[in-house]
Amino acid sequence: MGHLIELKDIYKIYQMGEERVHALDGISLTVDQGEFVAIVGQSGSGKSTAMNIIGCLDVPTAGTYHLGGVDVSTMDDDQQAEIRNKMLGFIFQQYNLIPKLNVLENVELPLLYAGVSGSERRERALQALERVGLADKCKNLPSQLSGGQQQRVSIARALAGKPSVILADEPTGALDSRTGREVLGFLQKLNAEGDTVVLITHDNSIAVKAKRIVRLQDGKIIYDGDARDPRAVVQPDLEQGDMDGEVLHA
Ligand SMILES: Nc1ncnc2c1ncn2[C@@H]1O[C@H](COP(=O)(O)OP(=O)(O)OP(=O)(O)O)[C@@H](O)[C@H]1O
Ligand SMILES: [Mg+2]
Repeated sequence: MGHLIELKDIYKIYQMGEERVHALDGISLTVDQGEFVAIVGQSGSGKSTAMNIIGCLDVPTAGTYHLGGVDVSTMDDDQQAEIRNKMLGFIFQQYNLIPKLNVLENVELPLLYAGVSGSERRERALQALERVGLADKCKNLPSQLSGGQQQRVSIARALAGKPSVILADEPTGALDSRTGREVLGFLQKLNAEGDTVVLITHDNSIAVKAKRIVRLQDGKIIYDGDARDPRAVVQPDLEQGDMDGEVLHA
């Protein structure tokens, strides 16, 4: 079987007046079933652009993207929406929970849109809430939960759709560091149980919790490999800057 995710020579170019911005400048990347990959890089390096393409929220200017063997790089909005519902589970920095719906109803909502029957909705939502340890809170409103618990509800909502890929964009951005570590622990647990996770973050200390790191700089991949390799967290720009600083102070 082919790769679950296969990006080939992907460009995303924005025309800004006279200037052309290469948000993604020819990236190629494959992700297989069961991987836990962190896409990391500084502000403006192209992370969100990559996330939007991988998440079928946007199409590249050039290059091809296969998701589950299907070419999604040329799909129209409706086709993208369909493949998103079928293949992808999103976790965002903002939990996007609906305040008036209880926890269970929030997790069920995407399944309702996907046309899943009432009894199966309930069963899948409860199962997902159990996986994140929140089955006992299913009647609570989001406002009656802590930030970390709300993020776990949003993880359950992503899981209930039985996605092939979980895409998490700065999932710990709104949390204190302890709660952030906890949420990351959940992503690690899901991955250990077989889920494929792609995590987007600007934070090296978060990225190293993944198994593999893909580092972006100026729209290009400058590292792709084991998260435990020291080179995975070296930022050439910063290192150069630090060295200059040392010379100045010597
Ligand atoms: N809609 C757009 N129009 C024009 N330029 C854009 C657009 N979206 C992104 N860019 C540019 O593309 C580059 C990559 O942006 P992107 O949002 O992917 O960065 P990022 O790594 O997610 O940064 P951050 O960590 O700040 O969220 C930046 O130079 C940005 O200014
Ligand atoms: Mg971004």
